[in-house]
Amino acid sequence: MQVTYYGHSCFLVEVKGKKILFDPFITGNPLAANISIDSIEADYIFLSHAHSDHTGDAIQLALQTKATLVGIWEIHAWAQRNGVTNTHPMNIGGVWNFDFGSVKMVNAVHSSSFEDGSYGGQAAGFYFETEEANFYYAGDTALHYDMKLLGKHFDIDIAFLPIGSNFTMGIDDAMIASKYIKCDKVIGMHYDTFGFIKIDHDAAKKKFMSQDKELILMDINTCKTFTF
Ligand code: NI
Ligand code: MN
Repeated sequence: MQVTYYGHSCFLVEVKGKKILFDPFITGNPLAANISIDSIEADYIFLSHAHSDHTGDAIQLALQTKATLVGIWEIHAWAQRNGVTNTHPMNIGGVWNFDFGSVKMVNAVHSSSFEDGSYGGQAAGFYFETEEANFYYAGDTALHYDMKLLGKHFDIDIAFLPIGSNFTMGIDDAMIASKYIKCDKVIGMHYDTFGFIKIDHDAAKKKFMSQDKELILMDINTCKTFTF
């Protein structure tokens, strides 16, 4: 499984030869100013919720790459209204078998509206099961007890968790989340982009290490390979 970080909560995950892009927010992110979205390729674009720091480049990238855009019903409808014909609607609790593996849309505790204030459906996370890795992309969320269900029923190799606090859970709750989901390898997201969510990288990593957990903070526009 290969992971490229495009800043904030935007990652490109490659499994089984498919390119899966999460929450593209690149042109609006000053920390990702050197990334041109013209060069991004994707087979799928997964959107966790409607906020613009997750959907900012989604329409343009869906049109440009012809990727299948996946999100909760209201996000699918919004994408269709904006000219994206290749969409796959889901809702919380549902599972679908894609050509790279299965995806379950899971609960997140967060708000979700589009920039004009219209309803974006419920905020969501995704649990992926593939031959190369099982992983959890939490989206924007608070720590919540449903995460225990993931730990109880699934075998998660690696998790993308928000750690920036203020808008989502912070480091301390992310460590508890990692316990709930029974996964000690965490890729941090949703930090540093705005003033409210700047974090001390070394302190955060040390906290994780003190509990024999690993926190991976990727540099923007770099790529890592994980094998499980
Ligand atoms: Ni949000
Ligand atoms: Mn956000």
